[in-house]
Amino acid sequence: MSIACYLSGIGASTPAHVLTNQDIEKLVDTTHEWIESRTGIQSRHVLDEGEQATDLAAEAARRAIAASGWAMEDITHVLTATATPEYLCPNASCLVAARLGLGTVAALDINAACSGFLYGIDLARGLVTTTPGARILIIGVEGVSRRLNWKDRGTCVLFGDGAGATVVSADIPPGGDPTGSIDDVLCCSDGSQGEALTVGGGTHRSYISGVSTVDDDFFVAMSGREVFKYAVRNMTGICRTILDRNGLTLDDVDLFIPHQANLRIIEAVSDRMGVDPAKVFVNIQTMGNTSAASIPLAMNDAWANGALRPGMRVLFVTFGGGFTWAASLMRF
Ligand code: ACO
Repeated sequence: MSIACYLSGIGASTPAHVLTNQDIEKLVDTTHEWIESRTGIQSRHVLDEGEQATDLAAEAARRAIAASGWAMEDITHVLTATATPEYLCPNASCLVAARLGLGTVAALDINAACSGFLYGIDLARGLVTTTPGARILIIGVEGVSRRLNWKDRGTCVLFGDGAGATVVSADIPPGGDPTGSIDDVLCCSDGSQGEALTVGGGTHRSYISGVSTVDDDFFVAMSGREVFKYAVRNMTGICRTILDRNGLTLDDVDLFIPHQANLRIIEAVSDRMGVDPAKVFVNIQTMGNTSAASIPLAMNDAWANGALRPGMRVLFVTFGGGFTWAASLMRF
């Protein structure tokens, strides 16, 4: 039996430091025109020295809980989606729980690269059915800049840092309407293609503190064309599958929020599916690809600027390293 599953409150946080394409021109052999025409990106936020992705995660979580109608003491679980954790242990969720004073909540991380946030939503849907009263704080956060080889123009221009969060529950927050409800989530993977996008080595905490020296495999490495091809094919396929299994068509979807990986991927997926461009939400211009933070950051921006409004049905889709991909249907 499926029970109602709500999301309440949306919060986000990005570093104050904005790195423009013109700034990157000073670091590697590239141009603003090349980056913008190939990716749609004009600028991205990056962590400053001394700042950690956990700072962003905690701030996004604080804002989401404040907007949710739940109190800090109502939170029972923290699930953090990240592929660039500060430490392997303690996990990011424990760090955020401690920072927010959430007590002895269950706290675990999910690594499904850029798809992690929707994977987290799917896990939370399961948890609320097995654990009555569960109020699950879900965070998507990345400090990808710490994992970029700033001498590799093929990857360093693509990514940004940030965090977004929401609270998932089966019950409605006291005195408030939930922001949205989760109708369906579908998650997939294909590990046979994993070598096309890798992040190896240790954690970035040990790197920046000078504890370890690193080899090239510490950084994001990617076969861009392979990723592009698989992303377009699988994002298109999973959207069709989730719509079909819910008896819906694109006409039933008011807003399409795809993973902000690359404007050309977004356009190729939208074209293949025949989505009205006016229904496609894009904020990659100022965010870059923030991996697991991309979907909640886009949801936050869409909600803040009125592109996402109460009454809308939204189709989310993502694709990332692993490979992993996922889609979700929600109503707001
Ligand atoms: N500036 C200038 N030239 C560059 C840059 C740069 N930043 N990067 C690569 N080039 C050059 C290459 O060296 C190459 O030069 P050459 O022809 O002399 O060898 C030329 O541009 C073409 O390189 P390609 O890699 O073939 O360029 P392509 O048109 O495929 O664009 C890109 C590269 C943007 C990475 C593209 O493959 C892509 O978007 N792939 C998807 C990857 C992606 O979005 N990954 C995100 C992570 S996964 C995810 O979130 C889904």
